[in-house]
Amino acid sequence: MSRGRIIAFLVLLATVLFALAPLVRGRVEIPTAQHHLLHAVMLAGAALSGILFADVTKSAREQRSSAAWLVVAMVTPVLAMLLMWPSEYAYLETHPYGHAVEHGGLILFGFVTGYGGQRYANGIGWAAGISIVAMAFLAVWGYGVAPATANLAASRVASNALTAADVVHGKVIFAQNCAVCHGVAGAGGEGPPLKNERTRKSLAQTQQWIENPAPPMPKLYPSVLSSQNVADVAAYLQSLH
Ligand code: HEC
Repeated sequence: MSRGRIIAFLVLLATVLFALAPLVRGRVEIPTAQHHLLHAVMLAGAALSGILFADVTKSAREQRSSAAWLVVAMVTPVLAMLLMWPSEYAYLETHPYGHAVEHGGLILFGFVTGYGGQRYANGIGWAAGISIVAMAFLAVWGYGVAPATANLAASRVASNALTAADVVHGKVIFAQNCAVCHGVAGAGGEGPPLKNERTRKSLAQTQQWIENPAPPMPKLYPSVLSSQNVADVAAYLQSLH
């Protein structure tokens, strides 16, 4: 193996070990913002190793750049962004394996972005790699998205109107007021299971139900829950798988 290949491989290996940390440590109790910083580091390592791999294999193959690689380098950042969508947070926080899979996906997409960009043309791998890292970095302060994904982001946000704060706070409301009947994470108990609730009720229908439930479910609104509480817990229910 050439030295270049070894370096590229070591960068990739270090990134994978870094990304698997949540699995080894069990649940990660760090703020979402810091978590996005970790994602940015993972994407940077993966994209860098992709660029290095593309560079060292360059002499070995014929020098022909295909537009397909450019498409690859543009599409994978969007996929990486979808992997970091706020509605997935509550699920990922409670499922370390799902979380490790998410990190594996980020590494794959980061790697492919760097590799594809660099295969298309010298320097494009760096540009694509830097932009994917910048997107994860922007996510540290609210949900930043790159221009290429802005339209997609706007339509997704409008369609389910979920924010990270809603879901995370909703989880707390649920544990305090609902889990006694519906089980931890909606697994079910005296009340029915609430997993995949979004296949039965829309966000608005879930809110209406919580505000005016049919007996024997108690009516907790507005005596115990504010309308913000109801919105948050409904958003949390919509995120359950
Ligand atoms: C005292 C037990 C109890 C508590 C506390 C409780 N529920 Fe329920 N819940 C039920 C029962 C029983 C049903 C089924 C009622 C029916 O279908 O007629 C139900 C049904 C539901 C449904 C409808 C399920 C479906 O798909 O039809 C939702 C949504 C729901 N509960 C959410 C909540 C939320 C959110 C909270 C906390 C704010 C909560 N529940 C607190 C007992 C409870």
